[in-house]
Amino acid sequence: MADTGKTAKLSFGDTELDLPIYSPTAGPDVIDIRRLYADAGVFTYDPGFTSTASCDSTITFIDGNKGELLHRGYPIDQLAEKSHFLEVCFLLLYGELPKAAELEDFEARVTNHTMLHEQMMNFFRGFRRDAHPMAIMTGVVGAMSAFYHDSTDINDPWQREVASIRMIAKLPTIAAMAYKYSVGQPFVYPRNDLDYASNFLRMCFAVPAEDYIVDPILSRAMDRIFTLHADHEQNASTSTVRLAGSSGANPFACIAAGIACLWGPAHGGANQACLEMLQEIGTVDRIPEYIARAKDKDDPFRLMGFGHRVYKNFDPRATVMKKSADEVLDLLGVENNPTLQVAKELEKEALADPYFADKKLFPNVDFYSGIILEAMGFPTSMFTPIFALSRTVGWISQWKEMIADPQNKIGRPRQLYQGETFRDYVDVEDR
Ligand code: CMC
Repeated sequence: MADTGKTAKLSFGDTELDLPIYSPTAGPDVIDIRRLYADAGVFTYDPGFTSTASCDSTITFIDGNKGELLHRGYPIDQLAEKSHFLEVCFLLLYGELPKAAELEDFEARVTNHTMLHEQMMNFFRGFRRDAHPMAIMTGVVGAMSAFYHDSTDINDPWQREVASIRMIAKLPTIAAMAYKYSVGQPFVYPRNDLDYASNFLRMCFAVPAEDYIVDPILSRAMDRIFTLHADHEQNASTSTVRLAGSSGANPFACIAAGIACLWGPAHGGANQACLEMLQEIGTVDRIPEYIARAKDKDDPFRLMGFGHRVYKNFDPRATVMKKSADEVLDLLGVENNPTLQVAKELEKEALADPYFADKKLFPNVDFYSGIILEAMGFPTSMFTPIFALSRTVGWISQWKEMIADPQNKIGRPRQLYQGETFRDYVDVEDR
């Protein structure tokens, strides 16, 4: 970060402080408040971290007003159009697009690690069949630290690298197995002659009685979903991974923490919540009723898949995802799928409604990814696991960046305490 030489003046009571201001390569300037408590004895208050930069990073940049998302400087629409998921993984992890030989080597390394330790299958069998796949993913990814001891030492760069490759390689296998277990079908092992997205589709949809031929349009759409979800700066789950990692926890434990955080409906769980909402709406004629509810201040209902904390004009990932959704729907058709018909009509009606335009609420990436995944035949419970496997590379890249940062220290926010002050314990008979 570049020191601008400028300072922000803070004065209260008798205290006068000059706080250094830094300029990032892109985005707003940042006021350094690290010495605030030591020098002035006060904290800052920022629930939800809406004005707080929690770290330095060189991985992802978002300009929410412009609708811009850059990975290592490259815009997401170009990456989604011209690149593919494993190349984007390389870019996020190592900072540059790979040369042809580097990409080949990276793909070979990931491909070599797609299988799970055979004994890990027992973990799946211990869960109830109706367990949510995100519950299984959180458990199984956490359990990886019990199986891959040779890559849990965070101080060894080689072990960090092996753990990273293992997770990128194995998360699709874990997600697919969680799905197979939930539908009572045998696990399908990975096939290393297939690309990353095709392999995942086959592990989900092949059965021993019948092979599964992957349609290239679906494989491309799947790869795009992975690419568009690969990283997203310091969002809730990424911050969770960083916070967990700041204590020195092993990488598998940190990624399991990220998966747990992603599950919430305001974050990665929105794609499932969105599809469930579309199913609840059921038919096109009921859309106005739900739009009215979303606008009603006294009703907590929100249109899931609309709005974003950072993007206040449009979500650039949604623009690409919409194109992909159109391609998939053209291939598979929506005529017989009422949920997809509701989705198309809801998008049209909400975009034409001034309430959503005024509040800058547009369909986000989860709205369109949910539509694609529904059309592909995934149950809604698999939507968030697919988000989790895509985001794993982002979490790992951010975790590696943090571990290598000499300024890294354990994350320890403070609070605005509003509780009782000191009082003496009262014996039970005197209360
Ligand atoms: N439907 C109806 N009204 C909404 C919606 C919505 N989806 N989202 C926000 N609003 C209204 C909200 O009621 C508020 O109105 P007012 O100013 O009158 O009180 C205003 O818009 C601002 O809302 P906010 O909650 O202050 O905005 P936020 O930036 O804190 O929330 C959000 C962002 C994504 C949590 C929210 O838009 C939301 O709950 N959306 C639905 C869930 C969803 O789709 N989440 C996925 C996000 S993208 C994937 C990811 O990155 O994880």
